[in-house]
Amino acid sequence: MIIAVDGPVAAGKGTLARRIADKYGFKYLDTGALYRAVGLLLLQNNQDPNNPDLALLAAQNVSKIDPSNPALRDEKTGNAASIVAANQRVRTALLEYQREVAKHKPGAVLDGRDIGTVVCPDAPVKLFVTASAEVRAQRRFDELAAKGQEVTFDDVLSDLRDRDARDQTRKSAPLAKADDAHLLDTTKLDIEAALEAACQIIDADFPG
Ligand code: DC
Repeated sequence: MIIAVDGPVAAGKGTLARRIADKYGFKYLDTGALYRAVGLLLLQNNQDPNNPDLALLAAQNVSKIDPSNPALRDEKTGNAASIVAANQRVRTALLEYQREVAKHKPGAVLDGRDIGTVVCPDAPVKLFVTASAEVRAQRRFDELAAKGQEVTFDDVLSDLRDRDARDQTRKSAPLAKADDAHLLDTTKLDIEAALEAACQIIDADFPG
């Protein structure tokens, strides 16, 4: 059983995917963290994420980054991740690992941008989680402010729009809703309501 959860930045898909995995007893993989780890490895080595050879090398050494490193969640890491994610060789280097995790029994929930379209196109349940840019920026702003980072809402919104544009327009596996994915708009939903809506979709697709 594979549940693919895709969507733009700060749509709430990570929290939602983790809660779905807990509820059904499935393994959870945050695939964005893989791209973030590649970005962080480059930043730590003072290397340019736009350099395709160095980005590939970082993708091949991604296990050097501790998954609990808080710097993975930094905005500059996210921006570097979005740059390396446009590199097809980086994407290919990370593909096998994602597909291995997806085979986990009794099931796995993967969240990202291309799970339903490229990584697991045959996933029996696909969710495309989205929300308005303003609501997503507000959530990200609150998250950063709670961590004590000095940012303005306008900067967060403008970064988010840049990131959306990069994720949607890149040639390799752009962010897109799979034709057979269910659209879940969380603009007006808190996490509990989003979880309930997601479970209704999953249980309808997979009764029992
Ligand atoms: O979900 P996130 O913000 O942690 O992802 C960071 C970046 O990684 C995002 O800008 C796009 C990229 N990404 C991707 O291209 N494909 C995925 N499956 C997951 C993330």
